[in-house]
Amino acid sequence: PAAVIVAIDGPSGTGKSSTSKSVAAQLGLSYLDTGAQYRAITWWMVSNGIDVTDPSAIAAAAGKPEIVSGTDPSAPTITVDGTDVAGPIRTQEVTSKVSAVSAVPEVRTRITELQRSIAKSAQRGIVVEGRDIGTTVLPDADLKIFLTASPEARAARRSGELKGVDVAATREALIKRDAADSGRKTSPLAKADDAVEVDTTELTLKQVIECVVTLIEEKR
Ligand code: C5P
Repeated sequence: PAAVIVAIDGPSGTGKSSTSKSVAAQLGLSYLDTGAQYRAITWWMVSNGIDVTDPSAIAAAAGKPEIVSGTDPSAPTITVDGTDVAGPIRTQEVTSKVSAVSAVPEVRTRITELQRSIAKSAQRGIVVEGRDIGTTVLPDADLKIFLTASPEARAARRSGELKGVDVAATREALIKRDAADSGRKTSPLAKADDAVEVDTTELTLKQVIECVVTLIEEKR
């Protein structure tokens, strides 16, 4: 079959990453975690002493780091100037600063170009997960999915991932980050008009994966 391009968007804690990786692995497609790219550029800004509360400083530095994403769904990788940053991009510091960095238009332009070139070179097709994939990055995707879940379900899933972290605090941080991502001017988190919305609140991960695989197979 021809290369299939799948966009999976939604707020944090909806199971986007687990779903996207699993679906890509099952169907032999590439996988791209675009949140990891925004986290990587944020990690670089923090590590290089850039003031992340200053959009003009972020804009001026946006072109400097070289970010490379490995697209094998069974072992995705991310490097910045050759350094593996898969661990450091998941810290609370990066998580709390990524929305400010990703809101800067120069950052988005840079990362969007990278995402388009990766999607274009995926021979068998690709599952790309993020916030603005269906609306901005790949508006011609063959299938667009928008995952949602109640704030309670999302916070519970995130707290489960981050061992020992308080659910109430996680819920607050998550709501704040989604509000920032949805409220920014440049390509905010949004459902594309032609996206299929899947509410995962009452579904197991296995059920969400089956649902997405079925939707992709219908398109092929
Ligand atoms: O998906 P993840 O939680 O790792 O994303 C981290 C952050 O990266 C988001 O909160 C958002 O600020 C930014 N992001 C974005 N556009 C995307 C993917 C992620 O702005 N396509």
